[in-house]
Amino acid sequence: MRIIVKNAFCVALLGTLFLAGCAGITSIGESFQGNGVATPSDTRGADDDLRTLFSAPEPELPDSSPLITNVAGRNSESLNGTWNIVVDEHEVGTRPFLGGPYYKEPVRETGMELVEFSFDSRRTLDVPGDWNSQDERLFRYRGVVWYQRSVSLEKDDDKRYFLHFDGVNYDAQVYVNQQPLAKHLGGYVAFNVDATDLLADGENSIVVRVDAHRDDATIPTKKSSDFFKYGGITRDVHLITVPDTFIRQYQLYLTNHETGTVKAWVQLDNASGGESVSISIPEANVSTSAVTDSNGRAEFKFRADLELWSPSTPKLYDVMISSGRDEVTDRIGFRTIAVDGKKILLNGKPVFFRGISMHDESYLKTGVAYDESDARAQLGLIKELNGNFVRLAHYPHNEHAVRIADEIGLLVWSEIPIVSLIDWTNADTQAVANGQLKDNIHRDLNRASIVMWSIGNETMPQSQARLAFLAELGEIARKEDVSGRLIAAALIGDVTKEFEEVGKRLVAQMVSDPEIAPAIREKFEGMLSEWGVEADEILESEIEVMLKDRLGEIVDVIGYNEYFGWYYSSFLGSQFPVDEGTVRRHMFKLMDDVRFRNIFEKPIIISEFGAGARQGYRSSEGLLWSEDYQAKVYQAQTEMIAKNDYVQGMSPWILKDFRSALRNLNGIQEIYNRKGIISDSGKKKRAFFVLQDHYAERAAAESMQ
Ligand code: GCU
Repeated sequence: MRIIVKNAFCVALLGTLFLAGCAGITSIGESFQGNGVATPSDTRGADDDLRTLFSAPEPELPDSSPLITNVAGRNSESLNGTWNIVVDEHEVGTRPFLGGPYYKEPVRETGMELVEFSFDSRRTLDVPGDWNSQDERLFRYRGVVWYQRSVSLEKDDDKRYFLHFDGVNYDAQVYVNQQPLAKHLGGYVAFNVDATDLLADGENSIVVRVDAHRDDATIPTKKSSDFFKYGGITRDVHLITVPDTFIRQYQLYLTNHETGTVKAWVQLDNASGGESVSISIPEANVSTSAVTDSNGRAEFKFRADLELWSPSTPKLYDVMISSGRDEVTDRIGFRTIAVDGKKILLNGKPVFFRGISMHDESYLKTGVAYDESDARAQLGLIKELNGNFVRLAHYPHNEHAVRIADEIGLLVWSEIPIVSLIDWTNADTQAVANGQLKDNIHRDLNRASIVMWSIGNETMPQSQARLAFLAELGEIARKEDVSGRLIAAALIGDVTKEFEEVGKRLVAQMVSDPEIAPAIREKFEGMLSEWGVEADEILESEIEVMLKDRLGEIVDVIGYNEYFGWYYSSFLGSQFPVDEGTVRRHMFKLMDDVRFRNIFEKPIIISEFGAGARQGYRSSEGLLWSEDYQAKVYQAQTEMIAKNDYVQGMSPWILKDFRSALRNLNGIQEIYNRKGIISDSGKKKRAFFVLQDHYAERAAAESMQ
């Protein structure tokens, strides 16, 4: 008697029996004899059979829909709350396996159907939020989790319905009422999918497959990012209802702060041209309209007597945009931003960016940040620092953060996670990067606080492929955002090329250091004579760090991550026959004379400096990891930067200790990066007050100008 495999279900059943380790069955092509003893009917191994089983076609999902700007100002329903989940570690949920696929309602009629998954209240996660901090069984999990919830709807035939996600980390597949709908790659940017055709009147089932894996082709990649890879539907979810033809994207921006000239464009969706679009700003006595072109785009130019937006006067105006049956409301600030030589001008005046860097991690809870209260608390600390600037590293933060920055008055450096080593020659990776940049821009087109789009952090190596990849991003940013925001990137520089003068100064200092053994000092004497220079000559001159990274040609503002007082002492310490403590001591001595410059003559923002400290650890000798050492670095850094006329701002690394699996020093780090000036439990370290005092002095000096 032979059981001949007839269809996929039999394949699944046999695969299941195989998986269940049923004795003797090692191949789908098995045949049975009467006595139940199996004899292999072909030579394929068990893996081949599983591969056959798993090679059932994956559902083909189209990309998400063009992003709809400004969910908050539309007719939208929150889908936040408790979602049912299935953890799919074997990644079988898309296949006809054990009763799957998971996005289909399994057949359960007689109680004899074998189904081995379920969505119900016995296994759930809160949305928004990461699974890592919600469920300790998932703390380090970076695989696939399926989410499911029901949505009841009174469906209108003349409306369209979009599911909008402010962030799903990392790879999302959306299914509605058992049908594949769309996919999206990128864990930190908003996206939406048009669910109109699949949603029904009454009860609907929404299923989202979330894959949090990272590899060498993802953005960010698995290894090159010193921050925790949270997974899940990490940010708000909404169901947006719009008319058939609706306002999809729009931008209003000030082109001239003296004349109050405003330009605007409005892009309708499903428009054929000739539609009327109106914009009104009641408080500024603006009411104007225009007609769309054949692409459904309407353009405006008008003048208004507007109070300019700035960190000290974060004025926002209620703006109404309407067309046909659609109306969108927003709160928009008007300002200009520009570069003038090595200065950055806000509303025509030079501005110094008194900032700090920040990850999108919760301050009030654990895990990712995703709500207004967290944003308000964390950004409020920057105002407490007397700051006017925040670098939202290393990826777009949740939308509440940028709206609160608008409201309380913080300039924002917005960044996509092109971090360190990216697969620069991979066209798919470039496409994902391009998509993330467009999504980031389209969500925040009208956020006055955002003055810079950063296209990368410490990208390396300095190859032609890297430059071409980043140049494409720079072009996209300038095309997608016509309002004149600046393009930036945080460079790591190349200490092997740019630190020659630092090295010479170290030798010139150490050669006369009585604490260094004479034999070592003789070596330093030899180095100086080899260079043909006198120690005194070096001691009296500035120490130039000249940035030459050709990325400087692409950006308007050069971000520079420098770690005088922390990493450099280790790196340089290994170059000299002295202990690291000696190098640290000498590095502090030379910092006052360091001058950062660049061959492009562009403004520099010190986008990172810092030092690690465990909150509460005090050391009278100022030992590493003490709050005292961190405070000393901040004191030396702020004094050094104050002497640099190319430097127009700083965003020290970092506001709060944050999770990173890279950081494994027991007793100090325990998978936290401790460079925060506030601990992960919200306690301020001494460096907080050093920076606060420094910014107070700067702010006072600026107010006198
Ligand atoms: C780098 C990097 C950060 C990292 C920091 C550090 O400059 O940009 O992501 O966390 O240094 O080493 O702490």
